[in-house]
Amino acid sequence: MKTPKSLVRIVSTGRFLPDRVLTNKDLEAMVDTTDEWITERTGVKERRIAGPDLSTAAMGTSAARIALERAAVEAGEVDILIVSTATPDRLLPATACDIQALLGADNAVAFDVSAACSGWLYGLTMAEGFLTAGRGEIALVVASEKMSSIIDWDDRDTCVLFGDGAGAAVVRKSDGVRGILGTHHGSDGRLTELLHRPGGGAVLPMDDEVLKNRDHLVKMSGREVFKNAVRSMADSADQALKQSGLKPDDVDLMIPHQANNRIIEATARYAGIPMEKVYINVDRYGNMSSATIPVAMDEAVEEGRLRPGMNVLTVAFGAGLTWGALAIRW
Ligand code: ACO
Repeated sequence: MKTPKSLVRIVSTGRFLPDRVLTNKDLEAMVDTTDEWITERTGVKERRIAGPDLSTAAMGTSAARIALERAAVEAGEVDILIVSTATPDRLLPATACDIQALLGADNAVAFDVSAACSGWLYGLTMAEGFLTAGRGEIALVVASEKMSSIIDWDDRDTCVLFGDGAGAAVVRKSDGVRGILGTHHGSDGRLTELLHRPGGGAVLPMDDEVLKNRDHLVKMSGREVFKNAVRSMADSADQALKQSGLKPDDVDLMIPHQANNRIIEATARYAGIPMEKVYINVDRYGNMSSATIPVAMDEAVEEGRLRPGMNVLTVAFGAGLTWGALAIRW
């Protein structure tokens, strides 16, 4: 167990979901799929889609404003602003800098973290590092994802899975009892091609060929991703719990990355957490990459499923491959 003085905790959360709902029925009219197939394989029933006027920065800013207001923190008081996104508004500069300007968080150091679906947990761990090292008092950790902008809407293997949204948390040093008790992260760069966007970067700069081959859009080997996700998340959950001194039975609520129901169920089974203690909203939003966990946390707080003093286990997996887990006393 960590010494109490080193604890860092989430003091508030916020979320933003675009209004437009895209149902499985809507998708039936777009690609060769069915509501039944999508529901059975993934658990997703509908997802939110951001229109052209809603940027990644705008969604992240909306979620962040709510979190700041709930923490009674002014934007100018934020010392560290970390934004996780796989869908930056531009490749240069960081979306965090756009969010900084929109918020007026003028005294923060702002940067993006690129760890795909695991990015928000990576961001939390970075914030913990900054704060425990004495490099600031208040961190804002945002995840904002406009997955609809990088999906191939003609590819039924991927387009049915994802959705758009944003979540945020204000993070501060704790009074000593509540906060992050254990963390674990891992990556495996040998498996980059299981889930990637090959074109549009320095290796394959955007040109007619990239566009023609649709190499600027997400490509995924679903089955391989599935296997690796379950294995890595279960292991990470175990490691984070060990570090925290908690046992699976001590966990009051598990908030996993919402990729699909089957991955969530298998991970919970391996981690020894019964499904009634697992928070699920993938049916309503699909996979919003790194935004799924802060959005789920915010909903869990609002619904009274996450209350002060509870032990929370949160776990994620994504492209890279990347993964991680945090055990938190809420
Ligand atoms: N509608 C209907 N049929 C489909 C669809 C669709 N949308 N997509 C694929 N199929 C077909 C396939 O073409 C295949 O047909 P075939 O047997 O004639 O070849 C059949 O369904 C089975 O395809 P599989 O890929 O084997 O299906 P599987 O059971 O593996 O489910 C899925 C696919 C849901 C993608 C699964 O592999 C999965 O969940 N993988 C994890 C992917 C993921 O979550 N990625 C997100 C990013 S990483 C993360 O967030 C964890």
